[in-house]
Amino acid sequence: MIYLSSLIIDGGVPLCGVVHVQGAKNSALPILAASLLADGECIIENCPDISDTHTAVEILDSLGCRTELCGDYISVNPQYADGFVIHDTLMRKMRSSIIFLGSILARRHHARVSFPGGCDIGTRPIDLHLSALSKMGVEFSESHGYLDCRTRGLKGADINLTFPSVGATENVMLSAVRADGTTTIRNAAKEPEIIDLQGFLNAMGADVSGAGTGTIVIRGRKSLGPVRYRIISDRIAAGTYMCAVAAAGGSVLLKNIDCGALWSTTAILRDAGCTVEEHADMLRIESDGMTQTDSSGVIRTMPYPGFPTDMGSPMVAAMCLARGTTVFVETIFENRYKYVGELLRMGARIRTDGRVAVIDGVRRLYGARVEASDLRGGAALVVAALAAEGQTVINNAEYIERGYEHIDRVLSDLGADIKYA
Ligand code: UD1
Repeated sequence: MIYLSSLIIDGGVPLCGVVHVQGAKNSALPILAASLLADGECIIENCPDISDTHTAVEILDSLGCRTELCGDYISVNPQYADGFVIHDTLMRKMRSSIIFLGSILARRHHARVSFPGGCDIGTRPIDLHLSALSKMGVEFSESHGYLDCRTRGLKGADINLTFPSVGATENVMLSAVRADGTTTIRNAAKEPEIIDLQGFLNAMGADVSGAGTGTIVIRGRKSLGPVRYRIISDRIAAGTYMCAVAAAGGSVLLKNIDCGALWSTTAILRDAGCTVEEHADMLRIESDGMTQTDSSGVIRTMPYPGFPTDMGSPMVAAMCLARGTTVFVETIFENRYKYVGELLRMGARIRTDGRVAVIDGVRRLYGARVEASDLRGGAALVVAALAAEGQTVINNAEYIERGYEHIDRVLSDLGADIKYA
């Protein structure tokens, strides 16, 4: 078997220093999709340098945008973008490519996309996206693995989501800003990245209100202007580094964060015995490796403001070293425990049954050869490897590169012994 990229970590070193947390992946992707709606060049600052952002830029290029990556900002000029097809290879690379559907429809009234791919953590259907768009006047037909989507003109509609899907909320927002009339989304997702998308769209001249609550109202506009915008920081990357400190021990200051958006992760790690001091836009976490503390009972993933599903895997890895038993319930995706088999190779004691994982804390984890099989599961292996005795080799590290900017450098700067093979 040839692995594209592997991370080698010699664990057991406490982490000390400062992390300037990257911009949010889950803001960058919908905001890059939104830039397609502008009449001129948009500049998006604080974009993370990760492979998912590069895939989003490839999609924009394939649609005819002029794009430029410069340090931590990306400029997008969609003035001559007349494409309406997202090729199967790009759709398969990441699930969020489906978010481009709303913008392409708003711009071209015609889009052709294949069904999205991405991390294999569950079936991940797009029925909520499609039924909402059909209420807005979009007709769908399927042929040769592609979905052909056409509208004679998007019109405002009342959309009641049966689940507060992040992607469906974003797709409706992206199409409704250029629709004729008013759209109301009920049971909308409340994630901070939805508020960020509203911020970007309104900076372009859109009329969106209510993001962060269950009801979002969008009044359609004929045109949207170019804008320069700075996206929020990545609460999942921040939370992952918190779990790494919790498990490996040490003292780390996280900068460029929103403490409020991290509340559920902070609460669990405090219960597990970590010290967390919060300041305006930074936070210090200290831990002696969690072995002396009790774990925090039942942890259940929920839509925001609940504990995020994306934090589940790194948190399970940290809880492997907490004293006592932690019960973990994954309520959002049905197939998120693939990495557990790899943690077992490292000496963890975890039983899974469907959406439930029961973790009995151990005193030590041991380095082993393991394989990442999705982005956050890969991050869990990094957390475990940093705390483990001896060397861990994580194969398929390209999954981790989808969401964590220069993870080797960030962790080396904290004193970890980590390198790419
Ligand atoms: C987004 C995030 C992802 C996070 C997830 C949940 C981005 C780029 N990705 O993904 O990191 O894990 O939110 O917080 O922002 N569902 C349906 N039908 C649909 C759409 C979704 O049944 O049409 C189900 C999904 O299968 C899943 C649940 O709803 O069980 C949540 O999915 P959703 O909120 O849409 O997640 P994503 O937008 O894909």
